[in-house]
Amino acid sequence: MTKLFTPITFRGLTLKNRVIVAPMCQYSARHGFANDWHLVHLGRFALGGFSLVIAEATGVSPEGRISYGCLGLWEDAQIPPLKRITEFLHKNGAAAGIQLAHAGRKASSPLPWRGSFNETDAEKAEFGFESWTPVAPSAERQTPSSPMPAMLDLAGMALVREQWVAATKRAEAAGFDMIELHAAHGYLLNQFLSPIANMREDAYGGCLENRMRFPLEVARAVRAAWPVEKPAFVRISVTDWIEGGVTVAESVTYARELKEIGYDVVHCTSSGFAGAQIPVGPLYQVPLSEAVRNGAGVPTAAVGLITKPTDAEQILQRGQADLIALARQALDDPNWPLHAMRELVQGDSYGNWPPQAGYAVRNKDRALGIFQP
Ligand SMILES: Cc1cc2nc3c(=O)[nH]c(=O)nc-3n(C[C@H](O)[C@H](O)[C@H](O)COP(=O)(O)O)c2cc1C
Repeated sequence: MTKLFTPITFRGLTLKNRVIVAPMCQYSARHGFANDWHLVHLGRFALGGFSLVIAEATGVSPEGRISYGCLGLWEDAQIPPLKRITEFLHKNGAAAGIQLAHAGRKASSPLPWRGSFNETDAEKAEFGFESWTPVAPSAERQTPSSPMPAMLDLAGMALVREQWVAATKRAEAAGFDMIELHAAHGYLLNQFLSPIANMREDAYGGCLENRMRFPLEVARAVRAAWPVEKPAFVRISVTDWIEGGVTVAESVTYARELKEIGYDVVHCTSSGFAGAQIPVGPLYQVPLSEAVRNGAGVPTAAVGLITKPTDAEQILQRGQADLIALARQALDDPNWPLHAMRELVQGDSYGNWPPQAGYAVRNKDRALGIFQP
């Protein structure tokens, strides 16, 4: 019996296994609206056997988007195309999640495969190009070439909090089973937490308690607006990997507070600020998940260069995480859970494929001698 394929329950939501899709920006929306790309991109992971598919960082306001191509939930008209996606995921055996986000000073970024705002006029019209001045805890740039953000005042922060609450209610209307609060990767909530970006001298800057204040206010308001029977995850950068930045010990304290507020899972990632020294390699963030899980006594999701089914199983067996999240490996193999099941589970696992495909893949594998009944 594998742990990877044992169901797990958070509040009223039971996931059929422990492999989930991490949120991945697609930069393919126009004015925040989901379209067929998002349906197919997310839908294929349901067909591939993931128990939970988390839609990308979705802006709670237009200026909170990472780029003009990011999804948004700042108006009701954005609900129906997302509802179409949640219905597809549900029909095909996966739970539907969405990451709600505000990019702060990292908003209005160019699309990563373009690297700069080099769109022609024709492309700008076709893609719905927009750019704007970002907001942030302090008037500090992400990098010397990044735009100078406008510093949020208390009224601006209250507005952002309300935008988060309104987007949370829209996520519920769109049929999502869980939300993930994006507090990682150097985006707005992470900017408040980290001394790298937060230079404030009011009650929201300085000591850890002050730096946590705004993220926790948002976290509390979002949790209160989300149905009590539905789980809420929060994604944090457990370390900035920068001298003078957020430490693992601080993140354990932060995670404890988030658990206290009612967050069911802490999704443990890292970094987001320029100058980070990241020891990238297989499973490199798993120890961060383990530290938060043990230190804060909260369920965690591990993410980051997890590619092998045997590694995923071991992470769970060793108690380093409760869920395994895949991003690039899921893009590389959208059927990863089905393939992992074939590798780890004895016997006929083809019944877990969509019926349209399972019998045919079984026949193919039997003909090749891969499956011997
Ligand atoms: C194309 C792409 C888009 C991403 N978009 C998001 C996002 O919207 N929100 C987020 O928290 N992380 C995002 N990430 C980070 C992933 O969720 C994940 O943490 C990271 O890629 C490490 O996992 P991996 O090694 O399995 O790819 C993105 C990663 C990729 C490759």
